[in-house]
Amino acid sequence: VFGHVAQAPEDPILGVTVAYNKDPSPVKVNLGVGAYRTEEGKPLVLNVVRRAEQLLLNDPNRIKEYLPITGLAEFNKLSAKLIFGQDSPAIQENRVTTVQCLSGTGSLRVGAEFLAKHYHKKSCFQHTIYIPLPTWGNHPKVFTIAGLTVKTYRYYDPATRGLNFQGLLEDLSAAPSGAIVLLHACAHNPTGVDPTLDQWEHIRQLMRSKGLLPFFDSAYQGFASGSLDADAQPVRLFVADGGELLAAQSYAKNMGLYGERVGALSIVCKTRDVAVRVESQLKLVIRPMYSNPPIHGASIVATILRDREMYGGWTIELKAMADRIISMRTQLHEALLARGTPGDWSHIIKQIGMFTFTGLNTDQVAFMTKEYHIYMTSDGRISMAGLSSRTVPHLADAIHAAVTG
Ligand code: LMR
Repeated sequence: VFGHVAQAPEDPILGVTVAYNKDPSPVKVNLGVGAYRTEEGKPLVLNVVRRAEQLLLNDPNRIKEYLPITGLAEFNKLSAKLIFGQDSPAIQENRVTTVQCLSGTGSLRVGAEFLAKHYHKKSCFQHTIYIPLPTWGNHPKVFTIAGLTVKTYRYYDPATRGLNFQGLLEDLSAAPSGAIVLLHACAHNPTGVDPTLDQWEHIRQLMRSKGLLPFFDSAYQGFASGSLDADAQPVRLFVADGGELLAAQSYAKNMGLYGERVGALSIVCKTRDVAVRVESQLKLVIRPMYSNPPIHGASIVATILRDREMYGGWTIELKAMADRIISMRTQLHEALLARGTPGDWSHIIKQIGMFTFTGLNTDQVAFMTKEYHIYMTSDGRISMAGLSSRTVPHLADAIHAAVTG
């Protein structure tokens, strides 16, 4: 009965790791998936995470019962404070409902399912979500499968390798009232290009005046500037005006909890009463999907966020990761200058977060993979977090050859 099933293509991002793993070359480098590596090219478990795990292990009262459908209550509370701020009026007024989900993707999916079912049916446009062009490859898939109609708004300008702010404003101005707009909270994936705070304020005013619903994807809090608070400013700007929004948080990158699949979806509502009803419906979305979320990762996060000293330790380790990535940017930029590689490569040091959107085309990427065993996504995105001082010269040689060849 399954004989007709066609072979599906590999995922454009996670499939890069599959190809990398098959390559026997000793010089291969995986710059595909956005996952942090040390200078030695090794995955990193943060010290503060190891300490939290030790505490959990030594706690004789720890049990393995099911969590509630909405997850670990303390984790949810602390996650909302992390993104919206300790003194967020929306939290104080109990207008926020937060549910623990399976990292960023799971949070986006639960949010999308909720919107598809419950976002007010004044017009058909409430089932349309505008996503930036380009965006993380999984976004359109998550929203489409949940039943939303996906449209795009201009975001990146290949000519300047910066933000197409005019295009963004035009497209959001033309979007029908009531549509949902997906916004990357910081460290835009894949371009590494973020609006300035002034530009965010423009976007906020435009969206609120048009009744567009913001859905923030916050996968890199702490990775853009090295400061958790600074990176949450765009989201907090929207919360401060009293309006509604959704926010999906991931702890994959900023706490290095990739495989623990720990994240949260928050919905900021107009009143406490609405928030209670929204949460009751989120439970109906989650229960048939995966029943309730896993306990371990959320317990690690709660252990760290609740303890001042551990929280401080986390911010230091987070800043060290962000700084190493910035140092990789400088080193790659200098290596290309030293080789006299044609073109302007200043975007490598200007872009923000884990990725550089190099501007290399699909053929150039294929060349670099074939000849230099460098693995990256075909859109020319490089995960700077996968680079080290040892591999920068090899990558610079590959880029030079791809550009001049
Ligand atoms: C990425 O963009 O590389 C990460 O967000 C990992 C993923 O799941 O795609």
